[in-house]
Amino acid sequence: MSSAKGPVCVTGAGGFLGSWVVHLLLSKNYLVRGTVRDPLDGKYAHLKQLPNASSNLELVKADLLDYPSLVSAIQGCSGVFHVASPVPSSSVPNPQASSLFLPFLLLGSSVDLIEPAVTGTLNVLKACNETKVKRAVVVSSGAALIMNPSWTDSQVIDESCWSDAEHCRATENWYCASKTEAESKALEYGKAAGLDVVTVCPNLILGPILQSTVNASTLLLVKLLKEGKDMVDNRHFLVVDVRDVAEALVLAYEKPDAQGRYICSSHSMHVKDIVDMLKEKYPNYNYPKNFTEVHQKKEMSSDKLQKLGWRYRSLPETLVDAVESYKKAGLLD
Ligand SMILES: NC(=O)c1ccc[n+]([C@@H]2O[C@H](COP(=O)([O-])OP(=O)(O)OC[C@H]3O[C@@H](n4cnc5c(N)ncnc54)[C@H](OP(=O)(O)O)[C@@H]3O)[C@@H](O)[C@H]2O)c1
Repeated sequence: MSSAKGPVCVTGAGGFLGSWVVHLLLSKNYLVRGTVRDPLDGKYAHLKQLPNASSNLELVKADLLDYPSLVSAIQGCSGVFHVASPVPSSSVPNPQASSLFLPFLLLGSSVDLIEPAVTGTLNVLKACNETKVKRAVVVSSGAALIMNPSWTDSQVIDESCWSDAEHCRATENWYCASKTEAESKALEYGKAAGLDVVTVCPNLILGPILQSTVNASTLLLVKLLKEGKDMVDNRHFLVVDVRDVAEALVLAYEKPDAQGRYICSSHSMHVKDIVDMLKEKYPNYNYPKNFTEVHQKKEMSSDKLQKLGWRYRSLPETLVDAVESYKKAGLLD
């Protein structure tokens, strides 16, 4: 077997996306240092079961707001995948959270979200600079591009588009504000410090879970399968498979010519289309009964990422693999 690559550090290694990034890196024979907030917490047990984990994965304690913990986690790594960031879910106490299809993006508070996302990202990048990391790949979000009152319905959003951070703050859309400010500051910092920073902006991430906890975007699909609401908004979603996002991040790390930001988005779908697709394979779950039409649709282009060599799965594959993983985890009982 060829010698191991890396080491590389993955922040937020135990989360939905972080776990798949660790899985992919281990399968590609990287030495991986994953940061978690409490290495003794049983919720990270799945990471230790991944192929190659016993020899090539080390879990270290780090918090985004604790700079020294980040420096020691990143020290000696040639690359960093900065995945960690708070993603609000409807389990966050918030009166608005009771509505299934109020996008989870509208939940959370400025204190919970902005500080760890923005200061946390800068802390990670400063630690990368201090420890001479070669490239940092930062996970941003479609939320950093789409939330701008100037966009027209017919416009296809590309990497030149930024959400309007002031508008996000004024409308208390703290998640969008957090991702927009974190990504723009990350790119600015990279330029000013001479650090190679590449950002990847996924849209709604669905697909199989490796972790035992339920993250925000997974909860959305679980609710669709279980809640049986009389009426939900027929919102428009831009969806990408979690495994394809992990591939995009590793591609952005490995390709020497990768630079700037990359939209990572595969399928453009209304909620009702997703439900119809699920019903074909799984007719017996408790789906929403009716849909209210809402005027809300934007398209995004992943051309830049595809030119880098990125390919993506079909939506039925994503949905079926997601449901099978939820069944295995007991989420649909
Ligand atoms: N899911 C989506 O639809 C979606 C779409 C676009 C972009 N994203 C981005 O993808 C990334 C991963 O999200 P996810 O969906 O995988 O969510 P997730 O499962 O909730 O993972 C978030 C991770 O961030 C870590 N974290 C949060 N605050 C932290 C702090 N102060 N210090 C250290 N770690 C902290 C959490 O660590 P603990 O394990 O300690 O809680 C967790 O591992 C985020 O950057 C998110 O903005 C997600």
